[in-house]
Amino acid sequence: MKTLILSSSLSENSRSYLLCKAVMGELIARGNNITFVDAMNIPMQPVHRGGTPEMETLARQVDEADNIIIGMGVHCYSVNDSLKILLDACFGKATGKFYGILCAAGGERSYLSTMQLTQICMNEWRMMQLPRIVYATGKDFKEDIIISSEVLERIALFSEEFHTIGNKLS
Ligand SMILES: Cc1cc2nc3c(=O)[nH]c(=O)nc-3n(C[C@H](O)[C@H](O)[C@H](O)COP(=O)(O)O)c2cc1C
Repeated sequence: MKTLILSSSLSENSRSYLLCKAVMGELIARGNNITFVDAMNIPMQPVHRGGTPEMETLARQVDEADNIIIGMGVHCYSVNDSLKILLDACFGKATGKFYGILCAAGGERSYLSTMQLTQICMNEWRMMQLPRIVYATGKDFKEDIIISSEVLERIALFSEEFHTIGNKLS
């Protein structure tokens, strides 16, 4: 099973990146074949300005993946700007794929913001979402370490379910 993990934040101290890395570790331990893409390494332009070679590579990686995990930060109760650019420009071949969401936010009350990503993926590409999200806020981290046992438990559960259902679908 080939899983693409896209960490979409452009923040140097991205917490959703840390969630992506933690899930990557869990999935590798279960024998998954992981392609990890960090948006920090993708020079990007909005869709009408033409794609960069790195964006074309991501579009190919989306096509080749059996399933996809997306790390997002919440911006104004929605997806972060860089993720929206990558979705618009690089997800054309994501149709019908199974996917999951890992989300970092500033506050406890923005958890419904992941529905913006659900709406895009389900309405635009009929993607099927794992009905479990990992949602974390600043208090769940100490510098670049996840310290919340609840979040760590959710990461393990998310990974187990993503692995099991992903295998059945691919
Ligand atoms: C422009 C902007 C808008 C934000 N809007 C929200 C918001 O609506 N709700 C929230 O809980 N946090 C908000 N935040 C905080 C981020 O979600 C938080 O910093 C999170 O860690 C970002 O993910 P990242 O660390 O992976 O980049 C916002 C941050 C920025 C920079």
